[in-house]
Amino acid sequence: MSDKFREIYSKSIKDPENFWREASENIFWFKKPSKILNKSNPPFYKWYEDGVTNTCYNALDLHIDQGKGNKNALIYDSPITGDKSKFTYEELKSKVSKFAGALVDLGVKKGDRVIIYMPMIPEAVVAMLGCARIGAIHSVVFGGFASNELASRIDDSKAKILVTASCGFEPGRTVEYKPLVDEAIKLANHKVSKMILFQRKGHEVKLNAPREISWDEAHSNAKNTDCVEMNSNEFAYILYTSGTTGTPKGIVRDIGGHIVALKWTMKNIYNINEDDIWWSASDIGWIVGHSYIVYAPLFKGCTTVLFEGKPVGTPDAGAFWKIISDYNVKSLFTAPTAFRAIKKEDPDGKFFSKYDLSKFESLFLAGERADPDTIKWAENLLNVPVIDHWWQTETSWAISSNCTGIEMMKTKYGSACKAVPGYDVKIIKSDQTLAKPNEMGDIVVKLPLPPGTFPTLWNADQRYKENYMSNYDGYYQTYDAGHIDEDGYIWIMSRTDDIINVAGHRLSTGAIEEVLSEHQSVAECAVLGIADKLKGQLPIGLIVLKAGVDKDNETISKECIQMVRDKIGPVAAFKVAIVIKRLPKTRSGKILRGTIRKIADNVEYKMPPTIDDPAILDEIKQDLIENKILNNG
Ligand code: COA
Ligand code: AMP
Repeated sequence: MSDKFREIYSKSIKDPENFWREASENIFWFKKPSKILNKSNPPFYKWYEDGVTNTCYNALDLHIDQGKGNKNALIYDSPITGDKSKFTYEELKSKVSKFAGALVDLGVKKGDRVIIYMPMIPEAVVAMLGCARIGAIHSVVFGGFASNELASRIDDSKAKILVTASCGFEPGRTVEYKPLVDEAIKLANHKVSKMILFQRKGHEVKLNAPREISWDEAHSNAKNTDCVEMNSNEFAYILYTSGTTGTPKGIVRDIGGHIVALKWTMKNIYNINEDDIWWSASDIGWIVGHSYIVYAPLFKGCTTVLFEGKPVGTPDAGAFWKIISDYNVKSLFTAPTAFRAIKKEDPDGKFFSKYDLSKFESLFLAGERADPDTIKWAENLLNVPVIDHWWQTETSWAISSNCTGIEMMKTKYGSACKAVPGYDVKIIKSDQTLAKPNEMGDIVVKLPLPPGTFPTLWNADQRYKENYMSNYDGYYQTYDAGHIDEDGYIWIMSRTDDIINVAGHRLSTGAIEEVLSEHQSVAECAVLGIADKLKGQLPIGLIVLKAGVDKDNETISKECIQMVRDKIGPVAAFKVAIVIKRLPKTRSGKILRGTIRKIADNVEYKMPPTIDDPAILDEIKQDLIENKILNNG
């Protein structure tokens, strides 16, 4: 470890209060905090308790105050529609303050929740910042989720307003949002009082006044509205993420810590300065999109790119290179699966050679394990550092990374580099003792977590405490397993719960199982994530039928697949459900999902000593072979 990084890291761990006091000097406060960290009620720590600030002020107004109103804040590019636009800080502020006024006209007050279910268009960013301006708590729902998921978020957040658009565009298909939203509103027990819908050109839909109004109508009398003063520990947003059951967890973000931490990361982790162009190719519905399409780059005052397209198919595998070259992007942050998709389609980089990427300096990957093959392929093609870093919705910024703005460290392929300042990462073994270097175990982070991480779950303090903070006293349990090597590099090997990562999207196999169990012919089922060369993991369902079912297996399988698509959404990429005779279980009745996964992935497995009938494993293998599911790794 070099001296500079070592020094900064150890300062952050030995004296977090001073470290984060200094970082907090770089943001705008209406009232500066005098207390940096309140540790009196663990695990509920409070950063900057008596500070008063505003998220939107820090994202927009501050830069205008500093004379940078004419600088580009947001570049929008949609290869699907051909639309492109640029918004200066001044222009974005003007749109946001009008939208904030529209929300006020509709009775939205500080602390009210607003659901945003929108495609990747500038209005989605305007909606998020408009909420922040007046202290409303937004909850963005990813467009690939189905009505049922949207409904559960409406119910849990008790949202007052829902903001949506007439449609989104996926390669080759238009996603009509209105019927999805209508269905969600019907399913939800809690009723939103208004729907604001942005009509996309050529895709206008009929609205039922007075509850449904268009984006333009909402703005008809709206006045420019200033930022309200927010206490540091009030909530900026709720972002629901998969839990171990079908009930999603509402990760909340506080205001002061979020601004301080995210602004700090732009220079220190990503080496981004105010005059740089930054691009995060994710979706605003995910944490990467919240933090690195919208908030962190705007807090920093640089330019952020909003891309409504895909790495391939919009129109080709050169889409990423075109954006980087057209806008002189300095660094890109995306999921490894995006690069695997490009590599698959254009292994020799033929598209790449058409573009000038001379301004491009680094590529950051996260969301799932970055396989060394893909990293090396990208390094060879781009000739820039390719950095795998590890983080979670819960933390909102990287737990481990190569902190390129502090000191570039060497790459160890397969590792997500070292703990970032602020995170004291440890490995705890199954006997509850701390692991030595290279010993595997649960990855935990010593409390208190740094600013910007989740202070609790929405309306679920107890779930927060029990789920994350109780298994290892004094530590946050990440639910990732792995080891730390002798040089302090962290190796993330697997999840320890039923979460799988499909194309960088976090999904719960438990939630898919809940849907399959609702099929009237299904007696029991198991869903597991098997290795996939493109998406990292893919869910497969194994289904055991009730006695006496006379429907054919193929029909049942198709119905199950459709149910998952309807109830969770296309994002689950659930395309395989096979009917089997019985599931392997322990003598106490626990389904041996881990063993089935190993069989499916064609890797070695040990016969579980507690299995009730070992012959079932051969049966399962045969079923997987017959259904062409056996993986070659
Ligand atoms: N709205 C509606 N539907 C959506 C959607 C959205 N915002 N995003 C994805 N979907 C749908 C897709 O259309 C697809 O539907 P289909 O089953 O009808 O084809 C399904 O959800 C799965 O989508 P996706 O995961 O995008 O798979 P894909 O096969 O279409 O594309 C990749 C594969 C690799 C190109 C794509 O996964 C990708 O770009 N990944 C980048 C990962 C990423 O941004 N991760 C975010 C965290 S960093
Ligand atoms: P999400 O909350 O959707 O960001 O998903 C978080 C989970 O994704 C983590 O707990 C990990 O399991 C996985 N993950 C994220 N980044 C990495 C990485 N760089 N390497 C391995 N796994 C990762």
